[in-house]
Amino acid sequence: MSDNTTGDEIDSADESTMIEDPSATEDPTMAESEDTTTEEPTTTDKAKATAAPEVASTAADGPPLLGLSGIKKRFGSIEALKGVSMEINKGEIMALVGDNGAGKSTLIKTIVGYHQPDGGEIYWNGEQVTFKNPDEALEKGIRVVYQDMDLIPSLTVARNLYLGQEPTNRFGHIDFEEINSETEKVLNEIGLKSLNDPQLPAENLSGGESQSIKIGRALHFDADLLILDEPLRNLSVKESEKVLKTVKRTKEEDIAIIYITHNIFNAYEVADRFHFLDSGETAGRYDKDEIDGPSDLTNKLKTLANEGVL
Ligand SMILES: Nc1ncnc2c1ncn2[C@@H]1O[C@H](COP(=O)(O)OP(=O)(O)O)[C@@H](O)[C@H]1O
Ligand SMILES: [Mg+2]
Repeated sequence: MSDNTTGDEIDSADESTMIEDPSATEDPTMAESEDTTTEEPTTTDKAKATAAPEVASTAADGPPLLGLSGIKKRFGSIEALKGVSMEINKGEIMALVGDNGAGKSTLIKTIVGYHQPDGGEIYWNGEQVTFKNPDEALEKGIRVVYQDMDLIPSLTVARNLYLGQEPTNRFGHIDFEEINSETEKVLNEIGLKSLNDPQLPAENLSGGESQSIKIGRALHFDADLLILDEPLRNLSVKESEKVLKTVKRTKEEDIAIIYITHNIFNAYEVADRFHFLDSGETAGRYDKDEIDGPSDLTNKLKTLANEGVL
């Protein structure tokens, strides 16, 4: 891990620095608000879905936390996912890297049951699961921070942290005392001690602080797997650094993270493993100890591109 000479921090402000394809459009929709009528009721590929060996052949210390085997998803004529297999273990940070339109957001929406896969299986702690919707995934401990979801500006930091999961007192009202004191603890944990005021309206937060609060929810509500979809989009270099610190802190809590990005430098900084996705297919996977610095990771990506894989 010696290749740090060019400074990993250079590109951290902009998620759009790598392998940019200006013709590809980013999916601007939020999982919760997306119109499900765009989904095609496809059954065609079900028969072809086969268990991928990598799910079965993981570490001796039990099954992976999450295992995907041959996940397929089609939107009309677009094959957004062509059979993606991956696994992620407890406490591990995996960078899911790919260009715009590679299928990254579709993959996470399919994991948590926003979309139903047209083929393949999902395993949670070794057991095959089907999530009908993201709430079911949340119940199991999978929390997603979507790329375009913001906090509610008019609500306080504390309310935003608890959104929809507020504890109530014996009169059935929100227990503000509890959420304020717990929020202070979370602000401490995620390194936002300086905010210091759970009652601050979220509209006063910077982009990075908002992202950190969203990640803080995962810490507070004991997620086992946190999925971050391009969490540094539109953040400055400084803000990005802060959020990356929060991501690393989350790892200390043994929370697994799927970190979605198309910025290799950010990916290299936080991840233990790298999974390249291209046009709905796995284009490469590497452990961090196989990689000699961010430029080596970039070269691997370029090699894949030159070989026509990307
Ligand atoms: N709800 C949808 N309806 C139709 N096509 C979609 C939908 N969501 C994603 N796609 C298409 O699937 C492909 C993968 O998109 P997406 O998963 O958003 O990529 P990424 O997140 O890697 O940029 C793109 O071609 C995109 O246009
Ligand atoms: Mg996306």
